[in-house]
Amino acid sequence: MSQTATLEREFAYSKRDFERVCRMIRLRAGIALAPGKEDMVYGRLVRRLRARGVCSFREYLDLLEHSNDSEWQDFTNALTTNLTAFFREPHHFEALGELLAQRDPRRGLRLWSAAASTGEEPYSLAMTVAEHYGRVDASVRILATDIDTQVLETARSGVYALDRVAGLPEERLRRFFQRGSGANQGYCRVAEELRRMVEFRPLNLLDEAWDLRGPFDAIFCRNVMIYFDKATQYRVLSRLVPLLAAGGRFFAGHSESFFHATDLLLSCGRTIYRPAARAA
Ligand SMILES: C[S@@+](CC[C@H](N)C(=O)[O-])C[C@H]1O[C@@H](n2cnc3c(N)ncnc32)[C@H](O)[C@@H]1O
Repeated sequence: MSQTATLEREFAYSKRDFERVCRMIRLRAGIALAPGKEDMVYGRLVRRLRARGVCSFREYLDLLEHSNDSEWQDFTNALTTNLTAFFREPHHFEALGELLAQRDPRRGLRLWSAAASTGEEPYSLAMTVAEHYGRVDASVRILATDIDTQVLETARSGVYALDRVAGLPEERLRRFFQRGSGANQGYCRVAEELRRMVEFRPLNLLDEAWDLRGPFDAIFCRNVMIYFDKATQYRVLSRLVPLLAAGGRFFAGHSESFFHATDLLLSCGRTIYRPAARAA
């Protein structure tokens, strides 16, 4: 970061401030920010500085270090990357359909979207379940968690701009969404029966204790491990894997692989894993 760039900014921001942010978000959320993300960090946090009425990053970070949970939550929300989409990586939803066909629905099924972001992923799970059984099945429960409380609010509301659903086939749109009118023109809402299948809750994958119980027939933990270093990935995986039911499946993001954790998970498809210690 050049001195000139620092002078041109609204708030004083040094390389040292950037490194401090990196340490703080890594400790809190496991997110390892790559060098070169200085401008991104500035852009994401600048609103927090204005909101807190401070004059520099140093002042903000000092304040943060002594502040309550709410500012830490805002800091975390600002630094997460929430890119997602309905039926992202569609082969996973086909594989889920196959998994559902092997399970006895009378036993009740539980699915977990562990980095749910704005909700497109858990609602895609719910749609897959509804399409598989030909109805919304009350015996299937979907838990959707994320560290970012702001995205969870969007997820809970189930309201999306029409361009977010533009790629979905007409049949899914008709069946699972209500189109807004009047003030809600340009938006649609996930149907209530689908929303009822999903429970949204904040959860930090790095926390020592999680307020939940397994087993889950499928855990979707996609495109979040990519932000963690290998040691953190292993630590999180070693807690996630025991929560899988026998025959359960772990779904990872397209650029995530766990060759460093073959004692925990074995590949059984494109970015799909089964627990290593159990029979397929
Ligand atoms: C890129 S989005 C992935 C969304 C979805 N899983 C998908 O693949 O489309 C990554 C999500 O991980 C969440 N996240 C980052 N660190 C986390 C942590 N330590 N615990 C839980 N969620 C975290 C972010 O808030 C963000 O919503």
